[in-house]
Amino acid sequence: MFNIVKGTHDVIQKEAAKYTYVENLLMREAQVFGYKEFRTPIMEYSELFLRSTGESSDIVRKEMYTFTDKGDRSITLRPEMTAGVIRSMVNEKLFINQDYPVKAFYVGPNFRYERPQQGRYRQFNQFGIECVGVDSPYRDIEVIMLGYNALKLLGFKNIKLEINSLGDAETREKYQTALREYFGKHIDTMCDDCKERYKLNVLRILDCKVEHDIEINKDAPIISDYYSEKSKESFNVITNFLKENEIEYKINNNLVRGLDYYSGIVFEYHYTSSQGKDYGALGGGGHYGSLVKEIGGPDLEGVGFAFGIERLINLMEDDNLFGENEISDPLDCYVMPVNTQNEKISFEVASYLRTNGYSADVCLEHKSMGQMFKKAERRNALYAVIIGDDEEKEQKVNLKNLVSQEQISIGLDHLLDKLDELFGENEDEHIHHHD
Ligand code: HAM
Repeated sequence: MFNIVKGTHDVIQKEAAKYTYVENLLMREAQVFGYKEFRTPIMEYSELFLRSTGESSDIVRKEMYTFTDKGDRSITLRPEMTAGVIRSMVNEKLFINQDYPVKAFYVGPNFRYERPQQGRYRQFNQFGIECVGVDSPYRDIEVIMLGYNALKLLGFKNIKLEINSLGDAETREKYQTALREYFGKHIDTMCDDCKERYKLNVLRILDCKVEHDIEINKDAPIISDYYSEKSKESFNVITNFLKENEIEYKINNNLVRGLDYYSGIVFEYHYTSSQGKDYGALGGGGHYGSLVKEIGGPDLEGVGFAFGIERLINLMEDDNLFGENEISDPLDCYVMPVNTQNEKISFEVASYLRTNGYSADVCLEHKSMGQMFKKAERRNALYAVIIGDDEEKEQKVNLKNLVSQEQISIGLDHLLDKLDELFGENEDEHIHHHD
């Protein structure tokens, strides 16, 4: 026996069907908003994350899976996908004809060396989007709406949207000066992480989860007092729109997010299960002003967010948001040879069904009829196709509906027509529709 790596988890069978369902729904919603899929490498040169995700973030400082490869290059398993997606836009010259925005969506695994706990894994999956080349606060709204609509389509009600604006460069500079002055008086009593944050990025102290430090944070200067006119204006456009569209949100001036590249609006989607379970933010994102340039692209702004798929699924399980149809994985036909000598024709019938668009499996394990019916049930089969010596001789099968238990005898040459007729009556049940 080998243990699974700490902080990782297997996604198999029914669980995998849930991932497929959730990811497909999210991807479809992104397509509805005009986004195109990006699949970038899981490995990137470590430098990319140092420069973009940020040297002051916990993610880069403590949580990266970094190793030196045999060619002596420093490689990192991506802790998030924004940096890689923007890098690909730059490398693939997507900005060259200045047709903005460039819209990307993506799904895939990420790696962070965190302490595993509820809703927190070392390998986890994200779905996210990036919209690059943006100049209007309505793009920020569009991105927020995409996430919000997708959560509703998944069945979430009472989503809590938290937003903040980190302002523009001018705002942040003034605000950081004020914070440095304030925390300068308290930093000696604060945790070691905060002492480090004080040096690297004082904003990050606001995110501290240590109780004593939370108390000190309560009296810290508030960013909204430092907004420039421009920052104030675009934040107002966003909050007014949310109000007009009855999207509930809460302004949280301490929301700074764990990555370095944000400026302007930042946001997180939160949700608590009906039993009060909270796995942490379902997703988060924001606007970034200089990331594209730092990665070697033109001076373009962008906005995006990512959901944690594990967290979505955990909450959907807790609150029964998966319908049976969405995750049941029915088999159209289970072919049963009555005797071992009927295996060959049974195998051929199963192949024939598959090439004609019906999902089929065949029992080749020499089981009794009773055992085969049990196997069919475990496989979620809709029909049993039973073939004994008489059927084989007469080129017929017994077709049994495993729900109604009705059984008919039918010639092999009419089997497809019959199935088409039966599945036509109940189109939804049929997985691979046969044209
Ligand atoms: P993030 O907030 O670091 O943002 O991650 C987004 C989401 O990924 C979180 O809200 C959470 O649901 C999930 N997540 C993060 N860490 C873990 C973990 N250890 N286990 C399970 N789920 C986790 C980003 O990654 C940014 N790239 C989002 C973004 C895109 N901003 C702009 N564009």
